[in-house]
Amino acid sequence: MNGQKVALVTGGMGGLGETISTKMVDAGYKVVVTYSPGNSQHGEWVKDMKAKGYDITAVACDVSDFDSCTKAVAEAQSKVGPVDVLVNNAGITRDTTFKKMDKVNWDAVLRTNLDSLFNMTKQVADGMVDRSWGRIINISSVNGSKGAFGQTNYSAAKAGVHGFTKALALEVARKNVTVNTISPGYIGTKMVTAIPEEVLNTKILPHIPVGRLGKPEEVASLVVYLASEEAAFITGANIAINGGQHMQ
Ligand code: CAA
Repeated sequence: MNGQKVALVTGGMGGLGETISTKMVDAGYKVVVTYSPGNSQHGEWVKDMKAKGYDITAVACDVSDFDSCTKAVAEAQSKVGPVDVLVNNAGITRDTTFKKMDKVNWDAVLRTNLDSLFNMTKQVADGMVDRSWGRIINISSVNGSKGAFGQTNYSAAKAGVHGFTKALALEVARKNVTVNTISPGYIGTKMVTAIPEEVLNTKILPHIPVGRLGKPEEVASLVVYLASEEAAFITGANIAINGGQHMQ
């Protein structure tokens, strides 16, 4: 491929998403992020990034809503061109034991963390196939592979992510479009620091053999690699990055 490639990162202003976005800029991509329509900080974020030397386009998008994704991707592509790399990163937690979980918490997590893959990938996959080049990188979780106390909704959605990856990878492999899952463990972002300290210290950290939380940079570097030309032979993979917490 010639010219500057375009990467779209959903949830690109979040803990992991921001680091993925800046690493992709560093790697030479034109980057567009989506942010949740309720996020009133987006203007500030874009300005801050610009001040740090990162020229990143931002579009509002509710990834759980198909029509919102259609509009957002059309807006993004009109600003920066066709999307070559899609990073499905946006995600939420609504942790609670199954006994206390209600339908609202179930639906919110399934729609945001799993339906979003259909909603976003549908907008860009045909274009990648037509141009015979593309990378789809889906951010799942260690808890999609091993389950987690208080996360029936999240674990179900994140397990579903890899099923999507494997099926789509088969369909587009001949067209130089790779589809992969990254399953991060507990990374030092707001999502993880929101876990009650006692639970984090007694139930989670002792089970991470390297003895610490992961760093967003560690996951972002893997995204950059999977997006690269060198990673063309990796498709349908689920790459764990969890400090040894769960070995497949
Ligand atoms: N394993 C075993 N037992 C656990 C447990 C665990 N991981 N977590 C809690 N328990 C136990 C508690 O010790 C407690 O036991 P006792 O009643 O005997 O004291 C019981 O379950 C109830 O625990 P809580 O008092 O914490 O109950 P709660 O209803 O207030 O909260 C919870 C339950 C919401 C699940 C809370 O424990 C929690 O937030 N846990 C963390 C869940 C988690 O790991 N989320 C990951 C978020 S980060 C993420 O998702 C990113 C990623 O991809 C990795």
